Parts: sequence; C-alpha cells; structure tokens
Amino acid sequence: MSADQVFHSRSEGIPSEGVKDQYADGKAARTWNKFIGDSNERTQNYKDFLIGLLRKNGCKKILDTACGTGIDSMMLVNEGFKVVSVDASDKMLKHALKARWERRKDSKYDEWIIEEANWETLPRDIEAFLPNTQFDAVICLGNSFAHLLDEYGDQRMQKMCLRNFAKCLKPGGLLFIDHRNYDAIIDSGATPGHSIYYNCKYPVDIKTSVLVVGGKAQLVALDYCINDDANSEKSEFRLCYFPHKLDKFTAMLDEAFDNRAKHEIYADFKPMSAVPVPSFYIHVLEKA
Ligand SMILES: C[S@@+](CC[C@H](N)C(=O)[O-])C[C@H]1O[C@@H](n2cnc3c(N)ncnc32)[C@H](O)[C@@H]1O
Repeated sequence: MSADQVFHSRSEGIPSEGVKDQYADGKAARTWNKFIGDSNERTQNYKDFLIGLLRKNGCKKILDTACGTGIDSMMLVNEGFKVVSVDASDKMLKHALKARWERRKDSKYDEWIIEEANWETLPRDIEAFLPNTQFDAVICLGNSFAHLLDEYGDQRMQKMCLRNFAKCLKPGGLLFIDHRNYDAIIDSGATPGHSIYYNCKYPVDIKTSVLVVGGKAQLVALDYCINDDANSEKSEFRLCYFPHKLDKFTAMLDEAFDNRAKHEIYADFKPMSAVPVPSFYIHVLEKA
C-alpha cells in the first residue's frame, strides 16, 4: 500500500486523483515568494556553486525542470544563460510568467522560455515547443524532486522521471538534482527552518511528520509556518515529500544514467567531508 493511500498528502481543495499538483490551491504559491525572499538574492554559496560549475563546464543552455515561481531561472537569466523553464503547476508558473512580463524590456528576459511540462512526459512535452533540443545542463533544485511520491511502492515513476532528465541532456551535459537530508529528518523527526538556498527574512517554523508504512518511512509532511510579525501575518501551508535516503537515491540516479555518469555529491554545496550533517545533498551527474 502506498503512503498516499494512508495519508492525505494534499491540502483541502486539491483532488487526490488526476492532477498531482500540491500547489494547485494556490496557497503555497502565494506564500512561496515570502519564503524564498528577494528574487534577486539567492544565498551567495548557492549562486557561486551553481554558476561556478555551469561556467567551468561550458554550459550555456539550461533546462530548469522545477522552475516554480522562477527564482532559480531568473538568477541564470541574469547571469546570461539561455534558460528554458518548466513546471507542472500553473499556479506556480503564473508567478514566473508575471516576473518575465515585468522585465520584458530587458532583452535577456525576452528570450526566457517558460512552459508547462511534467517530468513524467518531459522529453515529449519539450519536443512540442522546442523540437530536437538537448541541454547543456538540467536542474531540479530546491527539494523539488521529492515531491514525486511513490504511488506504486516500487519507485517506478521516480526512476522513469530521472531517465527523462537524462534524455534531455547532451552527452557531457550536467544534471543538478537535490534533496533534503531525509536520513537525518527520519532519525530526528525535525527539519531545519533555515534554507541553504533562500534569504528568507521571516522566522520559519517547519513541523515535521514522518509516515511509516510497513516499517518503511514513505512520506514526510512538512507544515511550514512563516511569521511576518510586522504585519501580524502568519502564512501556513503543507507540502509532502518522498524521503529519499542518500544511498538509495544515489544508486537510482546512477541507474538512470546506465551507471556511466560521473557522479559527485555535495553537502550544502560543500565537499561531503566538510559537513557531517548537512541540510541538503546536491548531486551533480555528467552524462557519458
Ligand atoms: C519546492 S518547489 C521549488 C521551485 C523552485 N525550484 C524553487 O527553488 O523555488 C517544487 C516545484 O516542483 C514542481 N513539480 C512537482 N512535481 C512536478 C512534476 N511531476 N513535473 C514538473 N514539476 C513538478 C512543483 O509544481 C513546484 O513548483
């Protein structure tokens, strides 16, 4: 039995069948910008890490597969990369489209492509608006991939989506994909409120619930509470994740690249040995 059948992973108002979009009620999408802070400001560590590796490897054309409100993509557009941004949630995409419209006088933003696409059908979705295109780099960051729950209990959809990411890359292209440190979350039952990606100026409290089905942790529900004391406002939303364990996720990624990719793992953007208990693991794979 999958975790989704035991526990309601979506907010009220979101169908549990059909569209598997946790952002569909617009609640998290509205609050997301508050959580991620100023869209011009990503943490310097993150920016140096991503831009540094992209430049070092000569990457120019980037596919952001979980662009959400567009924050990572905008950082890349600003740095002169050619960016194609996709996401399955129209509620999130609405914010990215608005951001592009507001900056339309800047020619870099004119070339920024934003479309709806789902990881499950990614190569086909992209082919529809950009035929015969492969990318120098594909990114799926901000703990996005863990949104994909394990509907069948054998991770088949996750494996298929990772293969789809690999298909979108040119030979020698890079995949950047991350997940929270679920090993630590399962052990401690807690999630750090600060994010290594965002400069959120409000206190964030994250209540963590771990659902164990058949002796295995199958779902982590994070209830975010963001306090804007100055305006006496409190924003709350729930997001659910599949708790990827580092070892298993590493093997699944390697398999998606036919065990032929060069695979580096970073802990909070640093070498693994530098951070014993990181908040995030970031995997970088180079397609053979
Ligand atoms: C946590 S948000 C992160 C957005 C952005 N990368 C950031 O850091 O702000 C995760 C995004 O993944 C998208 N997503 C989840 N499942 C998806 C799928 N199957 N296909 C495409 N996008 C998906 C969601 O709609 C959401 O916008």
